[in-house]
Amino acid sequence: MLKIGPLQLDSPLILAPLAGYSDLPFRLLCREYGAGLVVSEMISCHGMVYQQPNTLAMLATVPAERPLSIQLFGADPMVMGQAAALLNKFHPDLIDINMGCPVRKVTKRGAGSALMKTPALARQIIEAVVRESDVPVTVKTRIGIDQKTMTAVKFAQMAEDSGAAAVTIHGRTWAQGFTGLADWQAIAEVKKAVSIPVIGNGDIDDYQTAQQRLDEAGCDGVMIGRGALGNPWAFSASGRPATLEGLLPGVRRHLELMAEHLPTDRMLGAIKNQIGRYFKELPHSSQYRKLVCACSDFATLRQEIDALGQQGTLKIEDLR
Ligand SMILES: Cc1cc2nc3c(=O)[nH]c(=O)nc-3n(C[C@H](O)[C@H](O)[C@H](O)COP(=O)(O)O)c2cc1C
Repeated sequence: MLKIGPLQLDSPLILAPLAGYSDLPFRLLCREYGAGLVVSEMISCHGMVYQQPNTLAMLATVPAERPLSIQLFGADPMVMGQAAALLNKFHPDLIDINMGCPVRKVTKRGAGSALMKTPALARQIIEAVVRESDVPVTVKTRIGIDQKTMTAVKFAQMAEDSGAAAVTIHGRTWAQGFTGLADWQAIAEVKKAVSIPVIGNGDIDDYQTAQQRLDEAGCDGVMIGRGALGNPWAFSASGRPATLEGLLPGVRRHLELMAEHLPTDRMLGAIKNQIGRYFKELPHSSQYRKLVCACSDFATLRQEIDALGQQGTLKIEDLR
């Protein structure tokens, strides 16, 4: 079973950090459906050090979601170290460092994927965070900069040497962004080259594929990102229900957790962002999405979802 430092996980399937999605309700939901670890959305080290209200709001947690990894991003070793020291007060189980995000807003400041081009700086950042953190520190990166510059093996060795307790490798290059397919062979090569746990990531959307990737790549764990959106069953051996009736308990639980943990003004936006995805493979899925989008408040939306269950099958004519 996957062990990161002294932390023993009860499943090697991990919810990936997903900015805009992996908030407290979604993390709780994925834990309930079997994720062994959940990771926060990426948190700016500067936001942390300046104690920005938006950043602090992202640190909300409850015991039921444990273990929780909080992910930091930034390019300044001193500020990253300060942010890690401040994070200790929030008692995460792990701190993860983002060295793989390809978004321009992040890379133009030298953070995320850009750190693959500056391994000496990446080393200083890892060392600073390890020095200041009370808990194990992990690193999330990619297989390389582009097809010609596959840096992951050396980068992972550097991370291990700098004190990282595990590495996550997303099987795409920085140049690929989110296009193409994840290269699990490249992930397997990293696994062979380091002795800390390696968590593979990319294109997993169900439990069976997760098991297959664990076996084939010899990874210690796998991370599931987009495949978990509207699909917490990705973490469960029982798999995703094929019918609306089967899916509704998951949708209702997600709504319940949102109602419990999100500020009222964020609920409707969050739900519209996520709920449509539950219906994606059903016949009439666009009508279900329209129904969700047409709701002007959270209470109405919950009533509509409850009504769906009572009708058994939705009367699509009503939505046209
Ligand atoms: C909307 C979105 C937000 C993401 N946010 C983060 C993030 O905050 N930190 C991070 O390290 N990776 C982030 N990622 C990358 C994912 O964690 C993951 O590495 C990537 O999506 C590949 O895994 P998947 O194929 O299972 O989605 C994000 C990806 C998406 C699509």
